Amino acid sequence: MSGLTSIRTTGDKIEIVDQLKLPHTTEFLEIATIEQVHDAIKSMKIRGAPAIASLAALSVASHLSRALKASPAPDFLASPERLRAHVEPLLDFLYTARPTAVNLGAATRRLARTLRASVEAGKDARAVAEDLIAEGRTIDDEDVIRNKEMARWGGEWLVDRHKQRGLSGGDLNVMTVCNTGSLATSGYGTALGLITFLHETGRLQRAFYTQSTPYHQGSRLTALELQTLKIPSTMLCDSMVGSLFQHHDIHAVVVGADRIARNGDTANKVGTYNAAVLAARHGIPFIVVAPISTVDLEVSDGSKIPIEQRPPLEACLVRGALYPFTANADGVKEQATVMVTPAGLEGIYNPSFDVTPAELITAIVTEKGVAVKQEGAAGFDLSSIV
Ligand code: MRU
Repeated sequence: MSGLTSIRTTGDKIEIVDQLKLPHTTEFLEIATIEQVHDAIKSMKIRGAPAIASLAALSVASHLSRALKASPAPDFLASPERLRAHVEPLLDFLYTARPTAVNLGAATRRLARTLRASVEAGKDARAVAEDLIAEGRTIDDEDVIRNKEMARWGGEWLVDRHKQRGLSGGDLNVMTVCNTGSLATSGYGTALGLITFLHETGRLQRAFYTQSTPYHQGSRLTALELQTLKIPSTMLCDSMVGSLFQHHDIHAVVVGADRIARNGDTANKVGTYNAAVLAARHGIPFIVVAPISTVDLEVSDGSKIPIEQRPPLEACLVRGALYPFTANADGVKEQATVMVTPAGLEGIYNPSFDVTPAELITAIVTEKGVAVKQEGAAGFDLSSIV
């Protein structure tokens, strides 16, 4: 079953689908410089913790691959020290694009480690650049493989959990928040990957997903992904989660993560915490699906996770296609951005993420397996699995 693509590469050329224009227009943008990568991530043309990490890694690889082919060669290839002095600031700059998603930092730190190790091994500048190119591309390749592993671990665990409780293990109704599918990763997805796995193996009855305002990752992106994959699904407004749990049999809430603290506290799209509180009230298992690179052992608990505040204006605007649809001569639907608040509104609260305390999380699924919180425990000790 093939999903959508957020990044495509042809040799050194990198293109991303402009997620600001989805779901009505699929437009690929070429990203040719490190500044363009930074801008695309900051402006959310590409978003989702693993996808932005992959783009950053691929862009460093492509930048160096082009440099190796350039004639004359750029000055920074004159020595390993010059190369290091050129690459390290680029990695630092990329990491500043968005503060909460730690995968971006994990990718840039991994490239920085490769750089140091190759220089210290006495390699010449071209060989160091080759090592960085290989590492950057590996970071992207690994993402799809581990997403499929997580989906299988988490999906099988969920089905078994239901069987142990005397339920059939099939026909699961699963709710998710935000967008965690192939658009948010290098492919297949994390939480949405688990939902896809349940569907592919005949265990999913229906996926439910919140709109995830103000950016509408749910109603614009998850909606499109589920429609493309032909997975039966229902959208709800963020304020309807309590009503859904009261009136429908929901068997699990499955979400992704932007950063997981050592004790399991998890930062994810704003609205995740609300869903977790309501899930606890209704006895619904709450599952986080994220790669090991999302776990930040340097952060002991969620209070220390930096939370990105988006520009207040973003919470006042809704973007989409004009409706009833009107198309230009090429058949492209006309897009518009409309303001839904009075102009000049002051006092707008617009955090991009919130933190779900570990006590509300039933299990954390990584590519290494399922960490289940012990009965009565307040949190997890993730240092043993990272
Ligand atoms: O602001 P976004 O759209 O980048 O936020 C994305 C999320 O919160 C996702 O749930 C998270 O990055 C995991 S994506 C696999």
